[in-house]
Amino acid sequence: MRARRSLIDLDDLHSSEIDYIFKRTAHFEHELPPRTLLAGLACMNLFFERSTRTIASFTLAEQRLGADIISLSPQESSLGKGETIEDSAITLAAMGISVLIIRHPEAGFPRRLALAFDGHVINGGDGAHAHPTQALLDIYTLCKEFGDLRGRKIAIVGDILHSRVAHSNIQGLKGMGAEVILVGPEAFLPDSFKNDGVRVERDFDKVLPECDAVVLLRIQRERFSTAGVAITDDEYIKAYRLDGKRLKELKEETIVMHPGPYNRGIELADDVLTYAGWRYANQVRHGVFVRMAVLDFLVNGQQSLN
Ligand code: CP
Repeated sequence: MRARRSLIDLDDLHSSEIDYIFKRTAHFEHELPPRTLLAGLACMNLFFERSTRTIASFTLAEQRLGADIISLSPQESSLGKGETIEDSAITLAAMGISVLIIRHPEAGFPRRLALAFDGHVINGGDGAHAHPTQALLDIYTLCKEFGDLRGRKIAIVGDILHSRVAHSNIQGLKGMGAEVILVGPEAFLPDSFKNDGVRVERDFDKVLPECDAVVLLRIQRERFSTAGVAITDDEYIKAYRLDGKRLKELKEETIVMHPGPYNRGIELADDVLTYAGWRYANQVRHGVFVRMAVLDFLVNGQQSLN
C-alpha cells in the first residue's frame, strides 16, 4: 500500500512535486474538475485557532472535489476532556476519516497528529512554525506574475519572528531561487535570521526601490510573550508601514501581497488597497485552487496532466 502522504511544511514536498501541484492548480483554475476526485472520502477540518481564509478555502476545495466534509471546533472536540491527540487520531481513522486539516496554536501539533493518524494530515497553520498551503498559494501568485523566480527580490516585511507564513515562505522561496530580503526591527527579526541564507535589513526605505515583490505581515500580538515586544505601534508605523509615500519608491511593476488578515493603519495604509500592484485578492482566489491541487495530490498522487 502507498504510504499516506501528509503536508506539514514545504520540505515535505520535492521541488518537482511543487511544480506538479502548480500545474494542477493552473488546470483547476482554468477548468473545474467533475466533483469526483475525492468522492466517497471524508475530510475533517479541525481548527483550534480562528480562521477565515484557510478554513473557507479548504472547505470549498473539498466540496469542489466531491469529498464528505466534517468541521469540528475545539469546543466540540473531546481533546478538552483529556483525550490525547494520539487517541483522537485512532478514533477518527476508525470511523473512516481519510484527511485531517489541522490548525493549532502549538508548533509541532500537526506532526504529532500525522504520526498517529492512519490518513493524510495537512497543516493549516501551527503556532509560529509553518503554514505550507499559504506559502504555496503565495508562491503560485508570484510565479504567475513573474514566471521563473530565480533572482527575483522578494521582501518579507514585519513580524517575521512570530509568523508561520514567513517561515514557510522563506523555505519555499529559497527553494525557487528567489532572493529573500527580510525587513523589520530587531524585536520582530533577530539577527539569528542571517544564518538562514537570507538578507536581513532594518531599513525598509532602502529596500523599496529594488524589490520585485513586497510581502507585508500582520503583527502577531497573540504570540507575544507576557513581556510584550520592544517596539511601540508608533515606532513600527513610522519605520515599516507601507503608505502612499513609500509606494512611490517602488518600481512600477512591483507587486504587494499580504496573507491576511491585514490591519489597516498598522502594516499598511489605505493607499495600498488601491495600488495597481496589490495582489491580495489574487492570493485569496488562488488559495482555493492550490488547496484543491494539494488535496488531490496527497490522496490520488500524480495524474497525467494531458
Ligand atoms: N492567511 C490565513 O491563514 O488567514 P486565516 O487566519 O483567516 O485562515
